[in-house]
Amino acid sequence: MANAVTTIGVLTSGGDAPGMNAAIRAVVRTGLAKGLKVKGIMRGYSGLLNEEIVDLDFFSVSDIISRGGTILYTARCEEFRTEEGQKKGAEILKRHGIDGLVVIGGDGSFNGACKLANLGINAIGLPGTIDLDIACTDYTIGFDTAINTAMDAIDKIRDTSASHERCSIIEVMGRSAGYIALWCGIAAGAEAILLPERYDGNEQGLINKILESRKAGKKHHIIINAEGIGHSASMAKRIEAATGIETRATIIGHIQRGGNPTCKDRMYASIMGAKAVELLCEGKTKRVVGYLNGDFVDFDINEALAMKKDIPEYQYEISKMLVHR
Ligand code: ADP
Ligand code: F6P
Repeated sequence: MANAVTTIGVLTSGGDAPGMNAAIRAVVRTGLAKGLKVKGIMRGYSGLLNEEIVDLDFFSVSDIISRGGTILYTARCEEFRTEEGQKKGAEILKRHGIDGLVVIGGDGSFNGACKLANLGINAIGLPGTIDLDIACTDYTIGFDTAINTAMDAIDKIRDTSASHERCSIIEVMGRSAGYIALWCGIAAGAEAILLPERYDGNEQGLINKILESRKAGKKHHIIINAEGIGHSASMAKRIEAATGIETRATIIGHIQRGGNPTCKDRMYASIMGAKAVELLCEGKTKRVVGYLNGDFVDFDINEALAMKKDIPEYQYEISKMLVHR
């Protein structure tokens, strides 16, 4: 059967995430294997509006599967939120012969892809964000690397926290979602994990918990605080004042967004990249690729954007059960 598209474009948008390069490579090489022309759009929608479009061949994506970041660069673009910006973007794509587009990013980027699809460009979204905050999927490109980086950092902080018998408040990324905090908090054996989805602001409860576990023999304390709650430095000051235990705050920050992607991120991103191209070849548009219940699946973008997601209750319960109470 003939491909429904002839020339595909690929862009990365929103925050970068380790594994995006593996997805780009898979899009390029699957596209070429299927006889398509492949073009890279630099700097997300911003580069699209500036017509920063380059031809990609097999070797353009050599030596990138193991690298974090995105070789296409990424950006956020206010102009593209406007109808004029979207029309201009679609015209530029058409002028370059691009009839299929793969957008790697988060919900915001999918909204943009949907607008281009409405203007006649077949568009597929791939979930790329360290935050895991995309409702239609149990996996997002970059999350696995980010939690491993954060876990490693927490393990290191634990060493110094234990040596000084301190309390350490460690803030991890996630925007308004607590998935990174929950995963690396459980994996690093944190005493408390504060999630934006669950935290009731009861700092006195946290202080009591620290005091009780100290009394029971605990020599140091690891508290994971999600970015969505924030204020780790002032929290540390208040905890130190209330408990008399020396307390330090560490915000791990952008280190979580970089680094060589894990095997899982490389593998899943490769599969998702290939699947996006297959969907375009079949004439599909306005779809988002996800990973649910062990399968790679795809959804209508609007349905995907309307889905809701929450921290799995069982994982949250476990996080509380595994610590001193
Ligand atoms: P993410 O894709 O990670 O959610 P953002 O929310 O920052 O990141 O969105 C990335 C870009 O997608 C924005 O800078 C903008 O160019 C585009 N975008 C976001 N929302 C829309 C929208 N409703 N319509 C068109 N484009 C959008
Ligand atoms: O979405 C990824 C993320 O790293 C969030 O966890 C964080 O809130 C945000 O991006 C930070 O964005 P910036 O690149 O603007 O610092």
